[in-house]
Parts: sequence; C-alpha cells; structure tokens
Amino acid sequence: MNAQAVREQLRTVIVGHVDHGKSTLVGRLFHDTGSLPEGKLEAIKAMCERRGMPFEWAFLMDSFQSERDQGITIDTAQIWFKTKKRDYVIIDAPGHREFIKNMITGASSADAALLLIDAGHGIQQQSRLHGFLLNLLGIKQVAVLVNKMDLVGFDASRFGEIREQYIRYLDGLGVRPDYFVPLSARDGDNLVNRSTRMGWYSGPTVTEALDSFHPTLRPTDLPLRLPVQDVYKFDDRRIIVGRVESGRFSVGDQLLFSPSNKTARIASIESWHRPGKAVVAQAGQSVGITLDEQLFIERGEIASHVQDAPRETSVFRGRIFWLGQEPLRVGNTYQLKLLTRSSPVTVQKIERVFDADSLTDRPGVEVPRHGVADVILRSHAMLALDEGRTLARSGRFALSDGHNILAGGVVSMEGYPDQRDALTVKSQNLRRVEHRVPEAARSARNGHRGGVLWFTGLSGAGKSTLAMAVEQELFARGYHVYVLDGDNVRHGLNANLGFSPDDRAENIRRIGEVAALFADAGMIAITAFISPYRSDRQRAREAAKGAFHEIYVEADIETCEQRDPKGLYKKARRGEIAEFTGLTAPYEAPDAAELTVDTRDLDVEKSIKRILDYVERHIAIASQVR
Ligand code: ADX
Repeated sequence: MNAQAVREQLRTVIVGHVDHGKSTLVGRLFHDTGSLPEGKLEAIKAMCERRGMPFEWAFLMDSFQSERDQGITIDTAQIWFKTKKRDYVIIDAPGHREFIKNMITGASSADAALLLIDAGHGIQQQSRLHGFLLNLLGIKQVAVLVNKMDLVGFDASRFGEIREQYIRYLDGLGVRPDYFVPLSARDGDNLVNRSTRMGWYSGPTVTEALDSFHPTLRPTDLPLRLPVQDVYKFDDRRIIVGRVESGRFSVGDQLLFSPSNKTARIASIESWHRPGKAVVAQAGQSVGITLDEQLFIERGEIASHVQDAPRETSVFRGRIFWLGQEPLRVGNTYQLKLLTRSSPVTVQKIERVFDADSLTDRPGVEVPRHGVADVILRSHAMLALDEGRTLARSGRFALSDGHNILAGGVVSMEGYPDQRDALTVKSQNLRRVEHRVPEAARSARNGHRGGVLWFTGLSGAGKSTLAMAVEQELFARGYHVYVLDGDNVRHGLNANLGFSPDDRAENIRRIGEVAALFADAGMIAITAFISPYRSDRQRAREAAKGAFHEIYVEADIETCEQRDPKGLYKKARRGEIAEFTGLTAPYEAPDAAELTVDTRDLDVEKSIKRILDYVERHIAIASQVR
C-alpha cells in the first residue's frame, strides 16, 4: 500500500449507559492510539489548571462536542481515531433519541459495536435495551467492554459473573459478542496497551478486538438509491438533486423512479464545485442530474437502476423502537419519514410487543414508551422502500407527529409482496377498442347486471362451500353465474404460482382481471380466494369498476384450525407448509366489506341465505329475473 492509498475504515458505534464511562473511553482511545490533534491534550490540561479542576479524559469528548456544536468540525456525527491497521469512525449516540436519529441517518450502517458496561453496576435495564437495539439494527460484530475494573479491584470473578449473565441474555436475542474485554478506560488498561493488573485475562485489548472486525459492504457497492430532494427548474431544464445514499451511476444509465414507476436516461450530471462535467457519481455525493426526457418527478421519489429497484408497497411491517410519551395505538396516524419522503401512515395492526427484560413477546393493543414492537403500517399513497436488514438507508424510517421523532424503525417486508408488478404495464403501442354491444343490452338479455362477488377469508372459513352453494342457487334462479375457486384455478390459469407473497399478489391480480371480464360480459363471477392482502383486493375492486362486492367470509384462525377440512393446518403446524395464511403468513381482514358473513355464528344455510338476499337486493334487475 502506498502512502496515497485510501485507508480502510471501520464504522463503530459505542453504546452504553451514560455513567459507564463512554466519554472517558473515547478520549483515552484517541490519546493512546496517537490520534489526537497536536496540542489538544495540552490545551485541555492547561484549561483545567486555569480553572483549578482535575483533568479528565472525558473533557476531550466535551471539547469535540463543543467544536461540533459551533460547527468547527466538518462532519457532525462522526469522529475518527486510527490504529496501525486502519481508521475508525466512531458514531456517537449519547441517548436513546440520538441513537434512533443516528440509526436513521448513519449510525445504522455501523460495521461493529462496542457495548459498554460498568463493572460495579453490572448489567442493567439499559444494557439489555442496548443489546436489543443492536439486534434490531442487525449489527453482528460486537465487543462488550466491562469498564471500571479498577473499582472492583480487577477481580476476575466479578468479570466472569457479568460475562456469563450478559452472554445468557444476548443469546436469547441471537446476539453473540465476539469478545468480552475487562478494562479501565481511565487508566488505559487493556485499551491499546495490555494491562499489567489483570494477568488473568489473555484475550485481546480493545483495539486488537476492533482490528479483528471486518468492514461490511461499502455503500458504494450496494444497489443505487438516490432519493430526490428537490427539482430545480432552470429555463426549460429540470435538475433533479439529491444525495446518493448507496451505489453509483454514470451518465447514460437508465434510472427508475419509485414509486411513480417512471424511467428515463441520465443526460448529464451537474456539478457545482468542480469544473468540467462529471460522468459518474457514487454514494456520499450530493448531485444534480438531468434526464433525456421530461418526467414529472417530485421530492420523495427514489431513483435506482431498473434491475435493482426498491420495493413498492402501500403496507409494510416496521420493527420499531417507540419513544413517544403517549403509547402507539392501532388506528393512529403518524408521519413517516423515509429518506426524503414524508407521508402519513396509519397503524393497521400491532403484531407483537417485545419485552426487553424477559425476551418474550405478546400481542398487544398499544406500545408503551421505550417499547419495541412489530407493527403493520399502511399508507394511502404508494411507498418505495427496502428491506432494512439489507439496505440500511432506504430500509429504516422514523415516525413523527410533525415536530418530534416518536419512533425509529426497520422495514421488514416478510409476508408482504412487492406491488410494483401489478402497477406496471409492460407493453407499449396499445390502443383500446370499443365493444358494439352496450352494457344495457347485455343486462337486458341476462336479466341482471354483471358483477363480482369477491369472497375473502382464511382457509377453512367456508369460502368454497358457500361459493358453490350460492352458484347453484343463483343458477337455479336464472342467473348467469360462475365460481372461480382458488384450489381449481391454481390447477390451470395459475398453475405456475405458489404461495410466496409475490405469487399470491399475482394470483389475485389475474383473478381480479378475469372476474372483471366476466362482469363486463354481463355475468356474475363468484371468486373464492383467501386473497390475504387489502391492496390486491382494492385493485380487483378497481378492475371491476362499480360491479365489485366484497364478501368477508369470517371465521377466526382458531375456528378454521379446528375445522381443518383439508388437514392443512395440521401439516402447517408440523412445519410441512411454509407461509401458511394465518399461521406464518399474514391475512389482512377487510375494513369495509359490503357484506360480512360470520360462519362461526351462522350455519351454512343461513350464510347462503344472507348472500342470496344481498345479491337480490344489489345485483338483480328484480322485474326481469326469474
Ligand atoms: S391466495 O392466498 O393466493 O388467495 P388461494 O385462495 O389461491 O390463496 O389458495 C388457497 C388454498 O390453497 C387454500 O384453501 C389451501 O387449500 C391451499 N394452500 C396451499 N398452501 C397454502 C398456504 N401456504 N397458505 C394458504 N393456503 C394454502
């Protein structure tokens, strides 16, 4: 490596209780690794003398902090020290709020973490929470530093005790610390230099531990994500500006904007600071670009390459850390902030609330302050986002009330489909042609209008049974009617689809379109599909225009499992069916179905009658039927 070569960097977050000596640790690390700017230590010592106070290593941190507050240090959230091997960026997170903010804005991409514990106090509620948060952020390389060993007489058994306790706790979270290091940050024991007072310890020092960690993927090596911050109009040109959060691009690349789902090629990269035109840009740079086509793009969109796009969805799961004074509740609406996008989301469901102490989770109706929970959030508008574990910047978000950050969260799309495909028309040069048979002529001949009776509900709720019975009775009464049933259609039209979220969405998209064609042809299509996602059913509704009737065949999961007509619940419980609706895959019940038939209360006959009554009231042209 020559002197000019870029030195490797490792981004490290230090978390610990405020009193456990974090500032001292950082100050001392800087000093012992020879990373302090010249004269810094002397200046602080002189300042202490002037004011007649004893010197403390923590003052170094305070002085970095005040430089930062005054805007002297250029980079605001990060500080550096170096070992022989490489440079270290320390992501400072003084408290919960800062931790969450950093998690959204940068600390999230930490390669490793130092978890600080006070040997005197041992593991406390906060140490548990910190372990929990690291797990939430998916940081895998962890060293636990047991500080202030001088206060416990450098006692090996005290160290061993804390170690055993914390290992047991973290194990429950799936976090396995690589090291436990006993140290005295104040005196510099086992920081950079091996302590002479803890002969019983043969593991690495803090810097040795850090040097053994590996940098995770660089942002530049990840898929391109360029959130649009603004669009400036200069004469007839539109310049799209934003900071490249990950990946890289070149002039001429085709960009896909999400969620608007529009594409265009990059015509130029505009730079303000450098003379001449840049032809490439990469993560970390703020850029302005022009496109070869005029697209209407707004702040909040994310540009990517076409083949490596973010997901598009109107619903997602967030594992959140809740900071609000008031608990989070189902039905509440908060402002979602994800990169440059800000839009309202409503809590559809609280899947589980975690207890950081006992490591158990339970269903809940609210999430208390400092609670961690999995919640399902629904947005009115389409959103572009990523899986939080793979793409930190576009997969993490904050919730706010407009002023204050109320939560930080990590996106998990497990169990939910990418909705992009359903929105994309792939072909061009299409033109609609008009039928010459008017709708009125069809309904006059049939004696009724066309329509879609869309049955939705869990497997075993009774959809197929009711659909077939209703079909039989309506046919007998002179209706033109046909059932599209999940198990049947999956043998033919949808034989190539399984039960992954994307396949289910495609299953329902096709059936929605086919049912709409039936209705357009003047017939009544009854569909019997689980159709677990609200967005898919909403699209089926839109396809059928005004002729859509959602019928919720309701039975809770316990009832369905008890009935288990096909023995599938048993199989699923044995682990033989993956992603089984209601057990290991989500079901989103309708919030405003035209008709709900609760099959726990009503027997088959009564259920059928309910549906027939509904049809006679809403679809029949009464005088012409029969
Ligand atoms: S949907 O979710 O895509 O709407 P669909 O209604 O077509 O499902 O098919 C559901 C039927 O497939 C169930 O009644 C059951 O017989 C069978 N099935 C097989 N695997 C699964 C699964 N993983 N989840 C739900 N149903 C399944």
